[in-house]
Amino acid sequence: MSVFVNNHVVSACDDGERVTTNTMTRMPRNYPQVIKYMGSKAAILPFIASELSKVHAAGRPLVDLFAGACAISGGFGHVSKIISNDIQEYSAVVASTYLKRANRIGRFDIVALAADIANANLSALPDDVRYPAESTLAEFNAIEQRNRELLHKEFAYSHHLFTRVYSGTWWSAAQCVWIDAIREVLDDLKDKGQIDKADFDFGLTCLMHAMAYTSQGTGHYAQYRDAKTEAGMADINKYRCASVPRIFQKKFDSLLSWNLANVVDLDHQLVAMDYRECLAGLSPSVVYADPPYAFVHYSRFYHAMETVVKYDYPEIQHIKSEIVKGRYRVDRHQSPFCIGTQVKGAFVDLFLGVKDSGSDLLLSYSNTGMLGIDNLKALALESLGSEYDVWFDHMEHTHMTMGRRDDRSRQVRESLIVAKKR
Ligand SMILES: C[S@@+](CC[C@H](N)C(=O)[O-])C[C@H]1O[C@@H](n2cnc3c(N)ncnc32)[C@H](O)[C@@H]1O
Repeated sequence: MSVFVNNHVVSACDDGERVTTNTMTRMPRNYPQVIKYMGSKAAILPFIASELSKVHAAGRPLVDLFAGACAISGGFGHVSKIISNDIQEYSAVVASTYLKRANRIGRFDIVALAADIANANLSALPDDVRYPAESTLAEFNAIEQRNRELLHKEFAYSHHLFTRVYSGTWWSAAQCVWIDAIREVLDDLKDKGQIDKADFDFGLTCLMHAMAYTSQGTGHYAQYRDAKTEAGMADINKYRCASVPRIFQKKFDSLLSWNLANVVDLDHQLVAMDYRECLAGLSPSVVYADPPYAFVHYSRFYHAMETVVKYDYPEIQHIKSEIVKGRYRVDRHQSPFCIGTQVKGAFVDLFLGVKDSGSDLLLSYSNTGMLGIDNLKALALESLGSEYDVWFDHMEHTHMTMGRRDDRSRQVRESLIVAKKR
């Protein structure tokens, strides 16, 4: 990774120097990433740490306002109380794995318990949805289509959400049966009081990981791939053959070791709110804000994770009575940061919310964002007013696009606007 950091003082302190009080340096710890995530800040945590050290007052919580895949909790959960917030519920589940000890789940063999359920449900599937080791392209696509037709099947058992909605999309029917079975075991253990919320979230995180690494997609759930050529079919079939329980178990073992050795109880909080609501209830804190910067909504890319966490049999979007290919939830969140007419107001609300709570702010944004960096700086200065010193730094960073454009990664300039209350 090429790193180039530059400092620009936008509004200097009285003596014209950068703010250097509270220079408690907080180096990020190593932590295991669990899901594939566009725009993860894992790679720039040292850069964030160096700016945090200039504003972070001891004893104040660090609020990760748009937590996503939770790089802040992963990196800094051992040194500061974290309030991890995101509008998407799956994010709080991932954060829990970095912030809350999963003390009880290690006593259970989740895969063995799920195997009983999965084997019964696999034997109830029609034979013609299975994938043979070899097939022609036409046969393969016919099998894919029969998997997708499970959408119209009636199921006699409770946990069939993925098998019905997602068979033949990012996963095969057999993989979906396993996803449903593991989810059923976790529900059962929680309902009987045999595991706690932290254990349940830990299990769900491992399940999201297994979903990500068995999915035939490019790392998100906006569109699954169609087999158009022999080579495409071979690649998709590789993922169709990947084992959900094996990948789940591997992550479970390594992540549990990490969790039990590294989680520090600093009274961390997990929140799933709109950022304005989260800010409204905040006492003075340090807010790290990493809002979306492109016009695409995260909820379109990660709806399947939201659904495995909520497991609420959501209404799926239709257009002209046809189910949409991406099988999106009808209620998926539309972020004001991704809507041209709302993005400016969204930032004003962010700055005013930070100011009203008496907090300091670190705001990540990219040079490819919907709002130009210069506009954003002007908006920050105007909204925060003379009570704040504001400056910005930037670094060059390789950003994962997950195939959203034709490339898988791009060089972007990551900027941090820092606002410290005087
Ligand atoms: C750029 S990602 C954050 C990535 C994160 N910093 C990381 O390293 O993984 C932006 C996040 O903002 C969340 N988001 C979008 N609109 C929101 C809103 N109105 N309130 C709270 N979170 C929101 C999205 O769900 C997404 O997870």
